[in-house]
Amino acid sequence: MTKIEQLVNDLTGKYGKERKSLMPILQGIVKEKRYVDNTDMVHIARALDISAADVYGVASFYSFIENNEMGKYVIRICKSITCEMKGKHKILKALEEELRIKLGETTHNKRFTLLETNCLGLCDVGPAMLINEEPYTKLTPEKVHEILVDYRNEVK
Ligand code: FES
Repeated sequence: MTKIEQLVNDLTGKYGKERKSLMPILQGIVKEKRYVDNTDMVHIARALDISAADVYGVASFYSFIENNEMGKYVIRICKSITCEMKGKHKILKALEEELRIKLGETTHNKRFTLLETNCLGLCDVGPAMLINEEPYTKLTPEKVHEILVDYRNEVK
């Protein structure tokens, strides 16, 4: 049994094999490997006895379910209006310079992926971003540097 088959097996054991189990199973895979690719979707479809197109339809609807391989740490910077007004542009520039990648890319060592996201509900303490599930607020370019040093050194 492959790793993904084992994971899908574990998740169907936990959430069941009905159609309503699809969302928690997708979330479980995102939690484990940070993205759900086409092969994963085929395994899920088989396990739930639904079509792969059905799985893809649901997965592609949600922006947090990525289809491509992601870095170990997925950085999602808020692109919504309040963070935009609070200087998100400078934060994005700092992240791109620190990581030496552009928005939407993953570092060569597969450690970081840099993405944008809609409002995180942290507008009053923006600009804000998430690194995996961890929120970071009141960002400045200096703070971005300190945060990334911790992740590079695996202090997190
Ligand atoms: S606008 Fe950025 S967290 Fe709401």
